[in-house]
Amino acid sequence: MSYRLVRPWLFRRDAEAAHEWTLCRLAALPPVALAALRRTYARSAPRTVFGVRFPNPVGLAAGLDKDGRALHAWPALGVGFIEVGTVTRHAQPGNPAPRLFRLPASGAVINRMGFNNAGAAALAARLDALGPLPVPLGISLGKSKVTPLDEAVEDYLFSLRALRRYADYVAVNVSSPNTPGLRSLQDRPALAALLAALRAEAGPTPVLVKVAPDLTDQALGELLEVCTEHGVAGLVATNTTLSRDGLAAADADLAAEAGGLSGRPLTERAREVVTFIAKRSELPVIGVGGIMTPDDALRMFDAGASLVQVYTGLIYAGPALVRRIVGELR
Ligand SMILES: Cc1cc2nc3c(=O)[nH]c(=O)nc-3n(C[C@H](O)[C@H](O)[C@H](O)COP(=O)(O)O)c2cc1C
Repeated sequence: MSYRLVRPWLFRRDAEAAHEWTLCRLAALPPVALAALRRTYARSAPRTVFGVRFPNPVGLAAGLDKDGRALHAWPALGVGFIEVGTVTRHAQPGNPAPRLFRLPASGAVINRMGFNNAGAAALAARLDALGPLPVPLGISLGKSKVTPLDEAVEDYLFSLRALRRYADYVAVNVSSPNTPGLRSLQDRPALAALLAALRAEAGPTPVLVKVAPDLTDQALGELLEVCTEHGVAGLVATNTTLSRDGLAAADADLAAEAGGLSGRPLTERAREVVTFIAKRSELPVIGVGGIMTPDDALRMFDAGASLVQVYTGLIYAGPALVRRIVGELR
């Protein structure tokens, strides 16, 4: 109810300004407000996946709280885990604004943020000061823009070393469309080298790989082989898409904006990718992409996902989406 009142006001503002406003408000909530939110939103439906116990299987997707600024608020809003990042070795501003666009007629968002983040060391300092969280924490690692592709492994390793002690899992992001060349790290030789190095440094921390929805079946099949060979603990499927299929005519002018598309137009393709992975491998999957309703989440679980994540669905439906999904599961 309350999000329905706030949303029109948020949607009149520039999308990134609305995002920033929301994060600031959430980060500033006092303990008494967090406790009230927790009573309203937090529901449990525990499960254990890749050796980690989750109070419920509905998580916050990477990119919403890249620098971990509101980490106490998300569990109070009912999420069963949080994926922070994507974080890079070097702090970086990301792409010039505007870089985030709502497409309301399509239930979608296009973003070309470009890994704006304060860097791995700053996130480590924040997590150190914060102490333990009530839900598992995933940390998404990416490549700094200034680092050439052939030095990517060292760049990821730096972030892993800085952050592994705070992570219940790390997600290797090789699928953002907004860092030039990054997606080529999904190719067999590059991915094999990256995963071998990261697995050797990660110790007992589960290493997951986040994939793009735009891979062919053959490329995805090869990626799964490499992941299995290198002891990856699971997949996150999927990141945003470069496709512009499924957009409403009213959003045609924004379709030309560069960046990754998320939300309703991605629902079916993300589920297809999860189905493919579940059929082809034993690896657990975090299903993400276009989960806008509890039914979308249930279908993602039916497709084989062990956990799910939401981002664009939260923009359109608000935090009650998480509670409703967990309610359906219970
Ligand atoms: C504004 C924005 C920023 C994002 N940033 C990241 C990121 O830094 N790392 C990442 O792995 N995914 C990022 N994503 C992708 C989401 O985590 C998710 O995979 C994708 O949006 C599909 O889920 P959705 O349809 O529920 O939004 C971002 C998505 C959006 C909309």
